Amino acid sequence: MSILKTKNLSFTYPQISSVHHATINDISFSLDSGETIGIIGHTGSGKSTLLQTLNGLIKPDSGMVFLNEKDLWENPKEIYQKRFKVGLVFQYPEYQLFEETAYKDIAYGPKNMGLSDEEIDLRINEYSALLGITEDNLNKSPFELSGGEKRRVALAGILAMEPDVLVLDEPTAGLDPIGRTMLFNAIKEYQIKTNAGVIIVSHSMEDLSKMCDKLLVLSGGEIKKFGSVKDVFLDSAELNNLGLDVPMVTRVMLELKAKGLDIRSDIFTVDEAAKEILNFFSQSL
Ligand SMILES: Nc1ncnc2c1ncn2[C@@H]1O[C@H](COP(=O)(O)OP(=O)(O)OP(=O)(O)O)[C@@H](O)[C@H]1O
Ligand SMILES: [Mg+2]
Repeated sequence: MSILKTKNLSFTYPQISSVHHATINDISFSLDSGETIGIIGHTGSGKSTLLQTLNGLIKPDSGMVFLNEKDLWENPKEIYQKRFKVGLVFQYPEYQLFEETAYKDIAYGPKNMGLSDEEIDLRINEYSALLGITEDNLNKSPFELSGGEKRRVALAGILAMEPDVLVLDEPTAGLDPIGRTMLFNAIKEYQIKTNAGVIIVSHSMEDLSKMCDKLLVLSGGEIKKFGSVKDVFLDSAELNNLGLDVPMVTRVMLELKAKGLDIRSDIFTVDEAAKEILNFFSQSL
């Protein structure tokens, strides 16, 4: 079932002259419960702008957003409540922590939802554990935490609102491989528990191929392609035209194939590649 849908969504920042094209133009797509969509596009292609229309931070100039089949803007006075249901984790969210302690920062959203202190405490414990935030760190000022720890606190604050849709703007940018894996595992676990829909913007094709069911390619604020990960990555020529690339491991497989190895090249993760190469060698022995 579609949990979030956009129909012909367009928006231009007011200060941009109308001579320029719209910041996002005629965007229509649909996200199901439990599904993960990755958004890729060159810098300035409108990814962050699109994300902000999905939870009502930006009101589109035209077109509609549907949450659980209902118009997000049906009653503009309720838009604040809608933001609890579509949890948006900003690009570099660690710069938005502001409370005295990490605990209070995570509690901020749930408190605004009007949850009891008891329920808030339960949720903070649950999501801190999920993200590996220690008791000690919960009592520290967010400013005393490392970049990766701050990022986890910011995500815990959104998960603690238990949104139906989780929207993540470059969640792993700047994190080391262990930090990335930990964050992705937490997102996956949350999704399995709640059946939430997830939207992720990332410049890492590897991360997206691991996490996503579908990919949406944005260029100049317009959808250039929307389909399964496989469909999008198989069209590497079109991606290259847009200044984007297939995952590194896919390039390796394509080159091995070009060198005459009889292997599949429709492979987008390192795990799949390892299996395919082992399979190739075991057959050629
Ligand atoms: N607050 C703003 N006011 C005016 N113009 C803006 C604003 N935010 C973004 N823009 C412009 O809108 C366009 C799309 O920006 P957006 O931040 O959505 O791109 P992006 O795809 O998220 O890029 P990146 O990969 O660098 O994060 C850019 O041309 C940008 O300069
Ligand atoms: Mg952005």
